[in-house]
Amino acid sequence: MLEEIKKLRSKIDADLQAISSAEEAEAFRLKHLVRKGTIATLFERMREVANEEKRLVGKELNQLRAFAQSGFDEAQIKTEQKSKEPIQDPTLPPRKLYHGHEHPIMQAKARIQEIFIRMGFTVATGPDIEDDYHNFEALNFSPDHPARDMQDTFFVKHGDRDDLVLRTHTSPVQIRLMKSQKPPIRAIMPGRVYRNEAITARALAEFYQVEGLYVDKGVTMAQLKGTLFEFARAYYGKDIKFRFRPSFFPFTEPSAEMDITCFLCDGKGCRVCKYSGWLEILGCGMVHPNVLRNCDIDPEVYSGYAFGMGIERTQMLAIGLDDIRLFYENDVRFLSQF
Ligand code: DAH
Repeated sequence: MLEEIKKLRSKIDADLQAISSAEEAEAFRLKHLVRKGTIATLFERMREVANEEKRLVGKELNQLRAFAQSGFDEAQIKTEQKSKEPIQDPTLPPRKLYHGHEHPIMQAKARIQEIFIRMGFTVATGPDIEDDYHNFEALNFSPDHPARDMQDTFFVKHGDRDDLVLRTHTSPVQIRLMKSQKPPIRAIMPGRVYRNEAITARALAEFYQVEGLYVDKGVTMAQLKGTLFEFARAYYGKDIKFRFRPSFFPFTEPSAEMDITCFLCDGKGCRVCKYSGWLEILGCGMVHPNVLRNCDIDPEVYSGYAFGMGIERTQMLAIGLDDIRLFYENDVRFLSQF
């Protein structure tokens, strides 16, 4: 009898280990713990046990029953928890999945690129750390031009070179292109630029620009106007009007700034356009003969136009945003709106 109890105990132990579902736990109960189960059957055979052994066998049997019962209880709790986990309340709406997306400035950059690529422009890039020659000198800045001042420019020290700067605009990429390619050249040049400026609602020390350049025989200001107007219509909408205002840049002659009618107030005047009805969107002009000459392009044979715009500003105007810092505060509540 004691031998049989031992055998049954190892059988029950093995059965308990094997339980992995509520159904299996129930099968275990029906096999071992009910009135006609294995343990009860052994209890019934107590009658055959010799009197002097009854105490010991009874004790062993009781222990076996307690072992089976507590093992079953434990298995039941475990399997119940398991079966509860996947579905708590099938009527609950599913949790929302949040997907990341491109930063609004990268979206704007992609859109600007796409519009110009459709008009036949290629995309070129240049280094963020420039030398004085490409950033200023070759672009016809005079040696004492105020933009070269410490107030505006971040200088970079590297070894014994003292002519390195973080580029203050994307215009130096024009120089690199004209020095490495022969006309016709028709490219846009997006990239990061750096200025030693206090960060305010309207200015950052680090931002993005897109430069444009077209050099060929017979390039005219009328083509510049037509191209930029096409761009503005594609970016801001078909109904905008634009104007060119005379301006000055060392690397273009003549130079202009382009304004579009404020689409927020339809030109009537509002806070965003400072009650003028116009929004300035970019600087542009005909490439200065000195700049062409610096790149070994004969200004008697070739002419070109150039333009440059800030991407953050372009995007701010498109969405009616009045604080440029929002783009870089990484607040998902803001960024997820785009
Ligand atoms: N580089 C100028 C700036 O940072 C923008 C600009 C103006 C670029 C006129 C041009 C241009 O190519 O023709 O303010």
